[in-house]
Amino acid sequence: MTSNDAFTLSALRSDVKNRTRRTRETSAMRRMVRETSLSVDNLIYPMFVVEGEDIKTEISSMPGQYQLSVDRLVADCAEIAALDIPGVILFGIPDHKDDIASGAYAEGGIIQNAVRALKEAYPDLCVVTDVCLCEYMDHGHCGIIEGEKVLNDPTLELLEKTAVSHAEAGADIIAPSDMMDGRIGTIRAALDAGGFAQTPIMAYSSKFASAFYGPFREAAESAPAFGDRSSYQMDPANAREAVREIKLDIEEGADIVMVKPALIYLDVIAKAREITDLPVAAYNVSGEFAMLAAACRNGWLDPERAFMETLTSIRRAGADIILTYFAKDAARRLRGDKATPLSWM
Ligand code: PBG
Repeated sequence: MTSNDAFTLSALRSDVKNRTRRTRETSAMRRMVRETSLSVDNLIYPMFVVEGEDIKTEISSMPGQYQLSVDRLVADCAEIAALDIPGVILFGIPDHKDDIASGAYAEGGIIQNAVRALKEAYPDLCVVTDVCLCEYMDHGHCGIIEGEKVLNDPTLELLEKTAVSHAEAGADIIAPSDMMDGRIGTIRAALDAGGFAQTPIMAYSSKFASAFYGPFREAAESAPAFGDRSSYQMDPANAREAVREIKLDIEEGADIVMVKPALIYLDVIAKAREITDLPVAAYNVSGEFAMLAAACRNGWLDPERAFMETLTSIRRAGADIILTYFAKDAARRLRGDKATPLSWM
């Protein structure tokens, strides 16, 4: 028997009934049976805004990501618009911090200025603002403190003021990320009373107390001065509680619910998808970005495949919207641009 005979014989085995490989044979076939798609429409790009002029400082733990002054933010968004990325989410880094987060709701605050400038330059760009106080507090916690306790209800008032001031500046979506109880309901009421009944809320509904925000805290200069965030952000061990948080935010009036982080909480994204017909967003956070970029820069992973597989997995789990530092690179590859180098390599 020659080796060729052996091949023919093995090709004819009749006891192999299920041949899942049939539909994997050609690229055209694989395209037809592909279950999940990733589109530029799914992407929101996070950006960090600082005070001053002509500032563009790379964040050391997030290659290709920058702290930008408002003028440079506007300039950089030309690329976002050209790539047809539908939205950006803004994080502010004020020069002045205090214990009432006054910079968060100041009319001339960093986010308010950035939103006005962006909306003027790109009226069609969807500008999402992160509503949180940690970047504006001298102690770096997401609420008013008494001793070492973060107070819930007194914090709500500041969050309401912050949300309304963002809407007044022209924000298209308000995204509260503080994890105080009741904030979606009270922010909804404050927006409605302020004449912004049409401004949607994207709630960071299940936001975990995660180690994967590390690089963001460097970027946003928002690390807590004492303790950690586990009295308000969720325990990474809790998926049922995540469902409860999501349901509560929906009851309180959320228009979009978010799971954060994304990659290490894909199960929670899948649960969110099951329990609601609202759009589900997932935040592919700074640490998830940094980890992948670092492995790729070390030559340990194939960057082109790794980042697109990551985004596809988040969509497969059930997210409609992905907030991701990979947005620009993904948009380029999705439109067939294979030549522009990845911004983080
Ligand atoms: C809170 C906020 C954080 C992130 C988004 N909003 C940090 C935190 O809760 O400490 C993290 C995003 C990321 O890691 O990319 N203002």
